Amino acid sequence: MRKLGVGVLGVGEMGRRHAENLRHLVPEARLVAIADVAGARAKQVADELEIEYSFSSLGDMLQFKEVESVLIATPDKFHASSICAAAAAGKDILCEKPLALNLAEARDALEAVQRAGVRLQVGFMRRYDPAYAAARKKIDAGEIGQPLIFKSLGRDKDEAPIASYQSNVNGMLFYTNTIHDFDMARWIMKDEVASVHSYSTVVSRPEVANFGDVVAGVVNLKFAHGAIGNIESMAQALYGYDVRTEIIGSKGSLFVGSLQQTPMTFLTSHGSNKVLADHFLTRFADAYVAEVRDFAQTTLADKAPRVTGEDGLKALEIAMAAENSHLQGKPCNISELAVAR
Ligand SMILES: NC(=O)c1ccc[n+]([C@@H]2O[C@H](COP(=O)([O-])OP(=O)(O)OC[C@H]3O[C@@H](n4cnc5c(N)ncnc54)[C@H](O)[C@@H]3O)[C@@H](O)[C@H]2O)c1
Repeated sequence: MRKLGVGVLGVGEMGRRHAENLRHLVPEARLVAIADVAGARAKQVADELEIEYSFSSLGDMLQFKEVESVLIATPDKFHASSICAAAAAGKDILCEKPLALNLAEARDALEAVQRAGVRLQVGFMRRYDPAYAAARKKIDAGEIGQPLIFKSLGRDKDEAPIASYQSNVNGMLFYTNTIHDFDMARWIMKDEVASVHSYSTVVSRPEVANFGDVVAGVVNLKFAHGAIGNIESMAQALYGYDVRTEIIGSKGSLFVGSLQQTPMTFLTSHGSNKVLADHFLTRFADAYVAEVRDFAQTTLADKAPRVTGEDGLKALEIAMAAENSHLQGKPCNISELAVAR
């Protein structure tokens, strides 16, 4: 069986998991190289995964012929430029979310991909989660009738160190966390978001505002065809990693995520009386494998990716509108977004 040669760029927490999955759980792929600006880390991960080649720059890895495709898992700020470089070298690309941190860079990346005639898949792995995929199938089959309300929450567990805000290499909450729900909103409702109105708070950790970020946000959504939605995101829930979604339709409803039988759940930083997911790498373990596997399969079969660069752009537009709304204290229509920021 032909295997897709993949190089992983950025082997921090997420990239390392992708590299492990490629190495051990994706039969259609062959992990051939690892690159990270921290060259020692690239080498260490390569050694641990028994990979011969490691590099301290993307440029060096791109020279390597066996690297047919690149999985980008650097911090957000470097996604668009890495896509442009990988595309120019003729490599197919799977890039972590968000596609970019502004529309100008996002469009540059999409143009580079189109010019080079390569594939770009964006890492919205929730689409590959068995529970979300099952919900979408029910909607496709008409089993909840017309979807009317999308309600979602995404709460990360641990408080990020202030140094991670200071480094300024990742987007604010709407770009790093809520973007998964923005993509899910489009995908599962099978509609575009037309406008948003967001509220946010830093009341539990005011210093986060110095870095243009927020601790928690709620974003109300209006969809193009009349449905409505609401997303809550929280950077530090402490008790666990909590991702749940409800889709309310004219004939039925779908709840994705855990629903406990006992009406009262008690949650603190010590945990809960229930067994809780505590990290995205456990909650979405299967989805991360499935997304990389799908990337390898579609690339080998010369098919279009299931999660496209255009999907990455649309989710980014919603995140930018949510940030604008939070900054201006009023609703923001997606159509009002400035072309470049
Ligand atoms: N899909 C998901 O559920 C999910 C979950 C977590 C993180 N992510 C995304 O994955 C990406 C990485 O996140 P992380 O938590 O692994 O970050 P991290 O900080 O743990 O790791 C980033 C790695 O990239 C390296 N790096 C930094 N700049 C680089 C550059 N220019 N070129 C090459 N390597 C570079 C760093 O040395 C580090 O090893 C982010 O974009 C994040 O938004 C996605």
